[in-house]
Amino acid sequence: MWLCDPLTDPGTQTGKFSRLSVFRNDSALRPHSVRPHLPWGLMLRHALVGTAAAVFLATSAPSLGFAGDAQASPPELIQRGSRQYGQSCAFCHGPDATGARGPDLVRSTLVAHDVNGNLIGDVIRSGRPDKGMPALALSDDQIKAIAAFLHDRARAGLESGDIPKNYALSKLLTGSAEAGRSYFEGPGGCKRCHSPTGDLKGIARKLAPLELEARMLYPGEAKKKATVSLPSGEQVQGNLVHMDDFSVGIRDSSGWYHSYSRDNVRVEVDDPLETHRALLRRITQKEFHDLFAYLESLK
Ligand code: HEC
Ligand code: HEC
Repeated sequence: MWLCDPLTDPGTQTGKFSRLSVFRNDSALRPHSVRPHLPWGLMLRHALVGTAAAVFLATSAPSLGFAGDAQASPPELIQRGSRQYGQSCAFCHGPDATGARGPDLVRSTLVAHDVNGNLIGDVIRSGRPDKGMPALALSDDQIKAIAAFLHDRARAGLESGDIPKNYALSKLLTGSAEAGRSYFEGPGGCKRCHSPTGDLKGIARKLAPLELEARMLYPGEAKKKATVSLPSGEQVQGNLVHMDDFSVGIRDSSGWYHSYSRDNVRVEVDDPLETHRALLRRITQKEFHDLFAYLESLK
């Protein structure tokens, strides 16, 4: 099982990243309130720009607490963190955490200031929905492990002073396209809603590899269908346009809009993305990589 935790809370997973702001708009998520108000914040930010500065950091790091922490973490914890990171974060922040769709975490000042996950944990739990980072429901232990891994990466990065910026597709393509196809058509249940010659035709041409991984995990908004049962027993079906505690509105197939008071009707909502998410909650890491290899072959 992997990525089960981040996906367990459908409430935080609805919609595209860029549209998550609809659901959360918490000023506490702003970077400045996460960063401690220390001159170190500024110093680090400037310092991290140059290599000479990296040397400065590497030599003076123990006094900042972060490189020291990384060295103090048991290798077993770092390894656990590395696995967890690979499952929940790598497709956005890059396999080595030096950034992809999401920013470089190795050279992040926030990561540098973090102690045992105190700042990283906030970002993971709340996300930055308006900036493309979803909130992920990870446990304290998982967060600690990820933090240990990131500090270890940061230390290694500063020591080597040289981190690759680009990731070859070959690094992501570790699965078998053939196995992926069997999974897609068989146990994966993907065939029920998708077709390699229909909606997913040429998907690998349309989306860059990391984008494709991210979209498979956090697809865009889909139309929800609703069935409204009236007191008479009559049923009206259509696309769900609006629903709150008091009323429900649907648009039927001929384009007519119907609105009902929730008191008088029974509503069943079918969210196709819910099934998509449920499937991915069950997927193993191997199956995911096989699937990705398969989708990547749909040029
Ligand atoms: C769907 C893509 C996505 C996923 C998955 C994701 N992130 Fe992010 N993350 C982002 C984006 C985009 C930002 C930049 C937000 C901003 O500009 O404030 C970000 C920002 C961050 C930051 C703040 C960096 C800084 O210097 O301000 C941290 C720390 C972070 N992510 C850690 C993680 C960790 C750890 C995970 C896995 C548990 C993770 N992220 C999963 C996209 C993602
Ligand atoms: C019950 C229907 C359903 C099932 C089953 C399902 N999905 Fe989806 N999937 C959707 C919907 C709805 C969307 C979002 C609408 C869209 O972007 O096409 C989506 C989006 C996607 C996307 C992004 C497409 C894009 O153009 O951005 C990928 C990739 C994908 N699904 C792959 C899969 C895979 C792989 C499986 C099997 C493990 C699967 N889906 C199972 C309904 C489903």
